Amino acid sequence: MTTAPLILITGGAGYIGSHTVVALQQAGFDTIIVDDLSNSEPGVIDGITRITGVRPHFEQVDCCDKPALAAVFDNHPAITAAIHFAASKSVGESVRQPLKYYRNNLLSLINLLDEMIRHHVDQLVFSSSCTVYGQPDHLPVAEDEPVKPAMSPYGNTKQIGEEIIRDAAAANDRLQAVLLRYFNPIGAHPSAEIGERPAGVPQNLVPFITQTAAGLRNELSIFGDDYNTPDGSCIRDYINVVDLAKAHVTALHYLLERKNAQPVEAFNIGTGRGLSVLELIALFRKATGVDLPAKIVGRRPGDIEQVWANPQKANDVLGWRALETIDDTLRSAWNWEKRIRKIT
Ligand code: UD1
Repeated sequence: MTTAPLILITGGAGYIGSHTVVALQQAGFDTIIVDDLSNSEPGVIDGITRITGVRPHFEQVDCCDKPALAAVFDNHPAITAAIHFAASKSVGESVRQPLKYYRNNLLSLINLLDEMIRHHVDQLVFSSSCTVYGQPDHLPVAEDEPVKPAMSPYGNTKQIGEEIIRDAAAANDRLQAVLLRYFNPIGAHPSAEIGERPAGVPQNLVPFITQTAAGLRNELSIFGDDYNTPDGSCIRDYINVVDLAKAHVTALHYLLERKNAQPVEAFNIGTGRGLSVLELIALFRKATGVDLPAKIVGRRPGDIEQVWANPQKANDVLGWRALETIDDTLRSAWNWEKRIRKIT
């Protein structure tokens, strides 16, 4: 009997991490989650278990705690590869607390790479972001578009993170990595067992929409209708979180089967379709039939006018593509919100 490869998932109790653990288990991998639960709850592990029937290994460890992370590797010599999600992700908070962001997001990555190299764990999938492109000169944006100066410490940690991985791989022949540049992840698992649960007031659009629809917020603020876009609101590429989770499984297979041409390769993970804020709100109302009070307010400082992906490289090279419809995705986000708010 062969045993399934064991994959380490840092931040595996978080929003994208938990959906990826489900996708990995369903693809036949064993999983070990390392998460400090600073922005997630232990109940997420139960949700994963209910979906897959298998309880992932779980270690409550902060990746910035080097001895604790080293102990995870020492205690689990079967770890084959790693997926690194653990990071702070609020753009606004990163402007107010830059050192927290540089410490959390970069020290955790450095510690992880150190331990991977020390234990001959050679494959890494890294959570990067379309934020590395800033406002791109060409749309849809492809991976060869130049990286623009970061607009926030959070964005800078993603750019520097990519560079740290490239430099580490250049110095260590065995190390191979895929950088997944996510566009805007939304939605929840169709079972409504796991989903996005931001602490405090949501900063991202879809959690704010679902909380407003659930009556937790009075109304949604639409940040600007005077952009140079067809309806004046910002345009983004909203990617279903289950589709996004599957991209990690595909990237892992790609690395484990040694199909990568370069030691480090970046891929856009998006749908290829740009939707404006106003279009997304209209789609949510239509897909759910729920009323959504909304008003137009001024622009949010630091917002990019429009960005959407050219996902051709991920389609062609990884064989991955976004499959879920936007209607199903918005319904999944609403079903999850209803479940956690006990709305029938
Ligand atoms: C940004 C980053 C993304 C990062 C994410 C983390 C870019 C292009 N994207 O996403 O890489 O992972 O932050 O938080 O830099 N909006 C409203 N009302 C609201 C909330 C949002 O109108 O209450 C609008 C925003 O102005 C924006 C769109 O909705 O146009 C999406 O916003 P949000 O969900 O916060 O994501 P980004 O800012 O695109």
